[in-house]
Amino acid sequence: TVTSMLPAQQEVVIYDEAKVPQFTLPDPLVGPNGEKIETAEAWNSKQRPYLIQLFETQVYGKAPAAPGKISYKVTESSDEAFGGKARRRQVAIQLTDDPEGPVLNLLVYLPKTDKPVPTFLMLSFYGNATVTDDPAVMLPTSWLRDNKDKGISGHKASEKMRGTSSGRWPIETILDRGYGVATAYYGDIDPDFDDGFQNGIHPYFNAEGQTKPKADEWGSIAAWSWGMSRALDYLQESEEVDGEKVISLGHSRLGKTALWAGATDTRFAAVISNNSGCGGAALSRRRYGESVQKINKSFPHWFCDNFVQYSHNEDACPVDQHELIALIAPRPCLICSAEEDRWADPHGEFLSGHYASPVYELLGVEGMGVEKMPAINEPVLSRLGYVIRPGKHDVTTLDWQRYMDFADRHVTKAAD
Ligand code: GCU
Repeated sequence: TVTSMLPAQQEVVIYDEAKVPQFTLPDPLVGPNGEKIETAEAWNSKQRPYLIQLFETQVYGKAPAAPGKISYKVTESSDEAFGGKARRRQVAIQLTDDPEGPVLNLLVYLPKTDKPVPTFLMLSFYGNATVTDDPAVMLPTSWLRDNKDKGISGHKASEKMRGTSSGRWPIETILDRGYGVATAYYGDIDPDFDDGFQNGIHPYFNAEGQTKPKADEWGSIAAWSWGMSRALDYLQESEEVDGEKVISLGHSRLGKTALWAGATDTRFAAVISNNSGCGGAALSRRRYGESVQKINKSFPHWFCDNFVQYSHNEDACPVDQHELIALIAPRPCLICSAEEDRWADPHGEFLSGHYASPVYELLGVEGMGVEKMPAINEPVLSRLGYVIRPGKHDVTTLDWQRYMDFADRHVTKAAD
C-alpha cells in the first residue's frame, strides 16, 4: 500500500502553514462524469445525492433509513425549572422496535412562551446531568468514560457528576434570549470506544448473520448523527418546539456529528460546528494538525472502514470536507474555531466554508462573502459564517453568544 512506502517523518504533525502540501480540491460543482453543475435543479436532483453517497460510502458509512414512526415517552416534566422561568421535559426515545433496545434520553428546556420555541439540539459527552446542576435531571444509565473530576468510575454515573459540564451550557442565558435547548448523551446511541460495534445501536441493524457494519456502513459518527435525527423526530412532534427551527449544534467529535446530521437531514434549519476539525469542517487534504491517518488510528470506530484507505492518501478521497459544508446549503451554517485549537486546523475550517460558498451562491443565497480568513474576534455572520475566538478547544459563553447572534439573524428573524 501507499502507506507502507511513506517515510517516517510523515507521522509528524504539521503545525506550520509552509509545510502544508500542495493539493487540488474536488470541485463540488463538477459531477461524476466531469459535467458542470450549473443550476439549482441539477444540484438538488443529481449532485447533492451523488455527494451524499460518496460521504456515506467513503467517509462516515451509510446509516439505516429512518424508522417509520418513533415511540417515545415523556418521563418527567415541569413548568417550574430554573426558578419558574422555564419548562423542563425529559423524554425517553425508543431507538429501535425492541422495547429492551437502546433509549435516547432527551432533556429539553424551553422558555415559557405561548409560541413554539426555536431550539438548539446538541449532544453531550457525559450525559444530561452534567450540563446543569438541576437536581431533577436524571442520571445517565449508559456506559460512561471514567472521569475523576466528574465523579465517574466503573463507567457508571454518580451524583457527583451533576453540573460538571455546566460551563459549556449557559442554559439560562440561552432561555433568556428566547431559545430552547435540547440535549442527550451520545453514549445512549453508541458508547464511544472501539468494541467492534457489539454494543450501542449498530447490532440492532445487522442483517441476518452480519456481526459488524460492512466497509461502507455506519461508524459511530454516523450513528450519533442518526440519533440526532431521532431526537429531531420527537422535537418536530412536540407542539412546544418550533420543529422548523431546530439547529444542529456540536463540539469537536460531536461537531463532526452535527455537520453530518445537518448534511443528511435537511429538516435541520441550520448547523453550527464548534472546533470540529478533522472529519468535521477542516479540509483533510491540508493534513494540518490532526490528519486522516491519526484520526483513523486513534478512533477506528468513528468512520466507516473504507475511510482507512485515505490515511496518508487524502488526495485519493473523492470528497473533501468543503463538500460536507456544501451539503448543508442553502441552509445557514456557522463554522467556529478557536485560536489555540491548532489540532483542529482553524484555517482549514475557514477554507471549507470558503470553498463551499459557490454552492450557496448557485442556490441563490450568500456564501461566506469574504476572501480571507477573518481576524480573531471578528465574526463573519454571513449565512455561511465563520468565527475564530482566542483560547482553547472548548465551548464558552462567548461561543454561545455567537451561535445565538447567528441564529437571530438567519433562523429566527430571517427575511428569506
Ligand atoms: C480528539 C480527536 C478530535 C476530536 C476531539 C474531541 O482530540 O483527535 O478529532 O474532535 O478529540 O472530540 O474532543
